[in-house]
Formats: sequence, C-alpha cells, structure tokens
Amino acid sequence: MDRSTPLLRVHDLRIGFDLPEGRLVAVDGVSFQIRRGSTVALVGESGSGKSVVSQAIMGLLPRPAKILGGSILFADPEKPGTITDIVRLPVDGREMRNVRGGRISIIFQEPMTSLSPLHTVGNQIREALELHRDVSAREATELTRDMLA
Ligand SMILES: Nc1ncnc2c1ncn2[C@@H]1O[C@H](COP(=O)(O)OP(=O)(O)O)[C@@H](O)[C@H]1O
Ligand SMILES: [Mg+2]
Repeated sequence: MDRSTPLLRVHDLRIGFDLPEGRLVAVDGVSFQIRRGSTVALVGESGSGKSVVSQAIMGLLPRPAKILGGSILFADPEKPGTITDIVRLPVDGREMRNVRGGRISIIFQEPMTSLSPLHTVGNQIREALELHRDVSAREATELTRDMLA
C-alpha cells in the first residue's frame, strides 16, 4: 500500500430504512473514492442521500437505517498496510470510536442548531483532543487556543 492508495473507498454502498410502511432504499449502489490530499464533493438534490452516506462513514446512521450491502474501506495513513471496512465495525466499539472524531470528523450542517449554548466551541475542541490524543488537560487547553488563534 503506497501513497496512491485511496484514503477512503466507498464501494457499491446500499442503505435502507426499515419504516412501518416498508423498506425504503435511500442509497442504492454508491461508489466513490477519496485520495490523499484531495477534496471530494457529493452533489445531489435534497433527499438524494448525501447525508446518509456521510453518516454511514462516521458510524452515525439513525436507528431505522441499515447498511444493506457494500463496503467503506478506510486506509488510515497511521496504520500503513491495514485497510478497515467501516461497514463491519461495531458502531459503538473501540475501533469505531477511535475512527470517529479521531481519524474522520464531520462538521454538521446548520451551525445554529449544531452548536450548543451549553458547551463553548473551545470545550468541544478540547473534548475531542482529550478523547483522542494523549495530552493533559492543560496541554489540551493550550492546543485548543492555538487552533482557534
Ligand atoms: N431518519 C430518517 N428516517 C427515514 N428516512 C430517512 C431518514 N433520513 C433520511 N431518510 C431517507 O433517506 C433519503 C436521503 O436523505 P439524506 O441523506 O438526508 O439526503 P440529502 O442529505 O442528500 O439531502 C431521504 O430522501 C429519505 O427518504
Ligand atoms: Mg443532507
């Protein structure tokens, strides 16, 4: 595996919602890859499945959603030679918790509702650092200040 291996390879992903009125297949065979240092934009009309694909990558699908097939292959540059299929990781397991927020992050839409009046932006950044990096509370505070600066 070299630097040209895509960081993320979504292959033939299918996601359905089991609703009282039946199964709705919201994502039906989506494939794309993200290479190192590149930016990929998912473009589509409202309701076409952009958010659901992103939630699947983060292991954050809402309860009625199920991954019906396909794979999300993550080649973490910090683990050369290993490729992890996110679809197969238990969403609440240690490995997925490490990926989520530690290796792959998401910035949610609509910041006015995503930001919480009870937690400062600095606290939220510091929490991620404390969870995912081996730093003291004081170092986390300093790092957070540096980032915001
Ligand atoms: N919580 C949910 N319950 C049931 N169906 C949902 C839910 N979230 C999304 N869907 C279905 O998945 C489709 C894709 O939604 P979404 O990924 O949010 O679209 P986009 O982000 O492209 O606007 C929607 O059209 C809807 O049918
Ligand atoms: Mg969306």
